[in-house]
Amino acid sequence: TKFKYVEGEGSKTTILIMFDDKINMQVPHVHFRVREMGEWVDTNTDTYFKDKRVIVFSLPGAFTPTCSNQQLPGYELKADVFKEHGIDQIYCMSVNDSFVMNAWAQDQKLENVKVIPDGNGQFTQEMGMLCQKRDKCFGERSWRYAMIVNNGVIEKMFVEPGKTDDTPEDPYGESSPENVLKYLQSLNQGNSI
Ligand code: BEZ
Repeated sequence: TKFKYVEGEGSKTTILIMFDDKINMQVPHVHFRVREMGEWVDTNTDTYFKDKRVIVFSLPGAFTPTCSNQQLPGYELKADVFKEHGIDQIYCMSVNDSFVMNAWAQDQKLENVKVIPDGNGQFTQEMGMLCQKRDKCFGERSWRYAMIVNNGVIEKMFVEPGKTDDTPEDPYGESSPENVLKYLQSLNQGNSI
């Protein structure tokens, strides 16, 4: 949730506006370290977002069932359709280290979706999407969400309902490739949802 204070000119009134998402805000500027060809490579937000319109979907953990069987393969399979709708790149983010994310990408035989290891959880935290999953002994992870980001500016968010710490619930639908595609198709038809 985003809060904004608006002070009226010449008045003592302060209005507190609450935003439920971060539309039109910049994504957090964060440093990442990734393993490529056996070496550490430093990347940052610009590496992934500058001058591109991208989808990011962020999920609770590499190799977990819903993520591995539905969400990630769904985005991978639909990559060409997303491209036709003006998406330059699709990223899968998780609060996991780069070794784990690379192993998962290899296991899933990814050719289209690229992984971003938010190992420190900093990007996820600054997005307001970090949550506790202590009930599963996962520690801090990402709440499941997706977003469309245009040159670093958030165009649309798809957040699963009920974001709570240590919940056994793991809703999946809002951030699915089918739902994100439905939104993009509605833009092409000129009736944004
Ligand atoms: C999943 O199925 O994606 C999942 C399972 C346990 C914890 C988090 C995610």
